[in-house]
Amino acid sequence: MQDYREYLDEILIDEGKLQERIAELGKEISRDYQNENLHLICILRGGIIFLSDLMRNITVPNTVDFMAVSSYGVTRQSTGQVRITLDLKDDIQDRPVLLVEDIVDSGYTIASVLEFLKTRHPKSLRVCTLLNKPERREVEVPIHYCGFVIPNKFVFGYGLDMDEYYRNLPFIATVDLERYKPEE
Ligand code: IMP
Ligand code: MG
Repeated sequence: MQDYREYLDEILIDEGKLQERIAELGKEISRDYQNENLHLICILRGGIIFLSDLMRNITVPNTVDFMAVSSYGVTRQSTGQVRITLDLKDDIQDRPVLLVEDIVDSGYTIASVLEFLKTRHPKSLRVCTLLNKPERREVEVPIHYCGFVIPNKFVFGYGLDMDEYYRNLPFIATVDLERYKPEE
């Protein structure tokens, strides 16, 4: 596995900026969900680091559940067809649900997940994404809480992977694809 320092282009969002913005998001969400038992749904795997920091900044009572999806098609590009590979554990009917995602890119993932969740009749359904890449959008999706709008560049770190590695880095960095050597 190639050392990320060889293909890191620039650190787009450092640890301090991430934590500062996530604290703000937590406050905003806590204000909006006063007197509610908020149910957080995290999409595996990219959303886990964001979820764990975000939920520690949320002061209203909250529960958490997970789901996983996979998109068919070539690497680093969604195709529009999304399959649920791990379903929720708990029923969401009549509960205020907040979907927590790492990044909205083409929008296909969030669009499909929202359709899927709506069939289960939550009390309310909103989206919180750490990153938003609007230039790549192919389907309109509602985003209620957004950490950062980023340019159309491939990023990794803080939950987002470079071919499954480096989700543990505390910052978001861009990749210089010319210096990246994928494993066989
Ligand atoms: P969408 O369906 O095109 O919106 O893609 C969303 C998913 O693609 C995210 O949940 C990520 O897993 C992945 N993804 C999109 N852009 C990036 C990126 O720049 N770095 C890492 N993963 C990404
Ligand atoms: Mg993801």
